[in-house]
Amino acid sequence: MSSYRVSKLLNILGIESSCDETAASVVQDGNVLSNVVASQLIHQKYGGVVPELAARAHQVTIIPVVTAALEQAGIEKHTLHAIGFTQGPGLLGPLLVGSCFAKSLAFSLGIPLIGVHHIQAHVLGNFIEDPKPSFPFLCLTVSGGHTQILLVKDYFCMDVLGETQDDAVGEAFDKIAKLMGLGYPGGSLIDKYAKGGDPQSFSFPATNMPNFDFSFSGIKTAFSLFIQKKTPQFIEENRADICASIQALLVHMLLNKLVKAAQKTGIHAIALAGGVAVNSHLRHRLKALAEQYGWTLSMPSIDYCTDNAAMVAITAHYKYHIGKFANLSTRCSPRMVM
Ligand code: KG4
Ligand code: ZN
Repeated sequence: MSSYRVSKLLNILGIESSCDETAASVVQDGNVLSNVVASQLIHQKYGGVVPELAARAHQVTIIPVVTAALEQAGIEKHTLHAIGFTQGPGLLGPLLVGSCFAKSLAFSLGIPLIGVHHIQAHVLGNFIEDPKPSFPFLCLTVSGGHTQILLVKDYFCMDVLGETQDDAVGEAFDKIAKLMGLGYPGGSLIDKYAKGGDPQSFSFPATNMPNFDFSFSGIKTAFSLFIQKKTPQFIEENRADICASIQALLVHMLLNKLVKAAQKTGIHAIALAGGVAVNSHLRHRLKALAEQYGWTLSMPSIDYCTDNAAMVAITAHYKYHIGKFANLSTRCSPRMVM
């Protein structure tokens, strides 16, 4: 008799492979026992993620990463109750590697499979640590592919109040970093070089969209025109000030809409999610706004903001409780909607 049948503790393996991180995590009764992430360095020399190379790298790392997650958790495969995997949105090749692996393992162990929406998982990453947000809350969800203000009514009931009409804010960070020749991934480099810079040094035109929507393509074009007129020496000497100025503007554009959404809805429970949630200026400004407006704020730790499988496993944990399982013919979906 396999021990999971006698165990009262619910063990879930989560697998994330939507982009350039191969990740696996074990969550037991909603507590994270392991969180293993293998980042693919190969994309650095191309200045962005190359989908085909990402899929190949997932194939190489997925078994070692899952093995490490089980070992670190001290969990045997046969004690797992279910496997959650990122079904979409994301890059097709990378999603296929994770989903095929998850299906095969679930099939061989005779346990259920749970498909997870990547952005829902980012949002539910707020439920990994205490204090957990209480419903309803607003979540500023900011990643390389998404920029949204969500009204989160329940674990799986999220309304989009506003979103970007073109580039995601993470994409804007990355493209601006590339224009400055900083390298990839650009968001964290802008954050790093902005430290000590004066955010008032340079001004760029912010795009004001109606309601709670965003637009970041205009600012990227304006930045491109600005940088074309500067010499490499000027960029080098003013790097901190340029980074601080553009970062402050992007963060201001995000938080300006969040404040409006909080005022309009009257909701004072606020959460942050996605890779851009790592940004130190964003976290600092959001904390200051929370104090100013009396918001209850939830911000996952850094490891649970960027792509990780703990957020996938915790989402699968909640889906398990409501019996939302996938079958073996479930397809991954690069443009999956919430
Ligand atoms: O959620 P995520 O890891 O992957 C996607 O689902 O897209 O987000 C990746 C994005 C990238 O655009 C990356 O540059 C950005 O998050 N990012 C940051 C920082 N760390 C990661 N952006 C600004 N500041 C950071 N410190
Ligand atoms: Zn993500």
